[in-house]
Amino acid sequence: MTEVVHTPRVFSGIQPSGDLHLGNYLGALKRFAEAQDQGIETLYCMVDLHAITVWQNPADLKRATRELAAGFIASGIDPEKSMLFNQSQVPEHAQLAWIFNCVARMGWLNRMTQFKDKAGKNRENASVGLFAYPNLMAADILIYHATHVPVGEDQKQHIELTRDIATKFNHDYGVDFFPITEPVIEGAATRVMSLRDGSKKMSKSDPSDMSRITMTDDADAIAKKIRKAKTDPEALPSEVEGLKERAEARNLVNIYAALSDNTVDQVLSDVGGKQFSEFKPMLVELAVDKLAPISTEMGRLMQDPAEIDRILAKGAQKARAIAAPILDQTYEIVGMVRG
Ligand code: TYM
Repeated sequence: MTEVVHTPRVFSGIQPSGDLHLGNYLGALKRFAEAQDQGIETLYCMVDLHAITVWQNPADLKRATRELAAGFIASGIDPEKSMLFNQSQVPEHAQLAWIFNCVARMGWLNRMTQFKDKAGKNRENASVGLFAYPNLMAADILIYHATHVPVGEDQKQHIELTRDIATKFNHDYGVDFFPITEPVIEGAATRVMSLRDGSKKMSKSDPSDMSRITMTDDADAIAKKIRKAKTDPEALPSEVEGLKERAEARNLVNIYAALSDNTVDQVLSDVGGKQFSEFKPMLVELAVDKLAPISTEMGRLMQDPAEIDRILAKGAQKARAIAAPILDQTYEIVGMVRG
């Protein structure tokens, strides 16, 4: 019986596909930086192998990976404190994913809503990788024995699957090897909604650019998008209860709370009674104040892509030092002959 003491370790990843948006920042990046500063070991990954589950132009993928790395650093991830790397430079992720392909059941993956959303009506034509995606995601996490995974709400189902895979592996092989990872879904903006439709999540794939604020938007673009954001004619309530059935109003208040590091209750006690004509300019000012420096810093970092590549290679080296022995032990448990 292999016994492992699971010390706290944080892992999370973002796909380098499309532009980083406010949902990625508030639901993920900003919280990654907070976790880094709590003194726990943190690993953050640009999941390029996940990105190619749908077609990516190779030159665009390279650029998006470097730009995402710039986004991480500009948001406060310090490559000296966190391991920052792209997934394909740590081959142990894909190697463990194969083992998990043999642990996870078809029925489990058939229930994944992200696959249903992304494959749409034409499932027969979706890549096998898109279907098996959650197994690779489980491998991303478990190859480091990560105990905590900060994510937005849309990734909850995938973390539950990761827990199911760890439990089944441990049970099938009679070991206590993989930890049962906790999703960390916290804060006021775990699900940032589209600025055009409060029932849809803000996403890279929405055809309307007005639906999202991207991390490369300048102050004018941010102001325009917030001014045009869909709202309702009522004044803002003073209590959370009053946001029920008001998806668009709730979304803007959540964004304000997350950007200003306040709770929704605190924000409403300040802005309750105000019309959107008054609240929106406040939100524009706050958003520009918080996001413009990040976008400026991303632009600066992108001027030296070779330095970004060096940072990612170094991060990958450190990550491999953790991943390789865990893969070795996994092979041993599974019964692979090792020379
Ligand atoms: P991805 O690349 O779609 O999104 C990256 C992170 O941003 C969060 N997010 C949001 N949060 C709040 N509101 C939104 N509108 C919003 N949109 C996106 C996501 O929840 C995520 O935390 N499968 C993952 C990437 C991944 C991963 C992993 C994450 C691969 N392996 C291992 C954690 C651990 C994905 O597609 O995220």
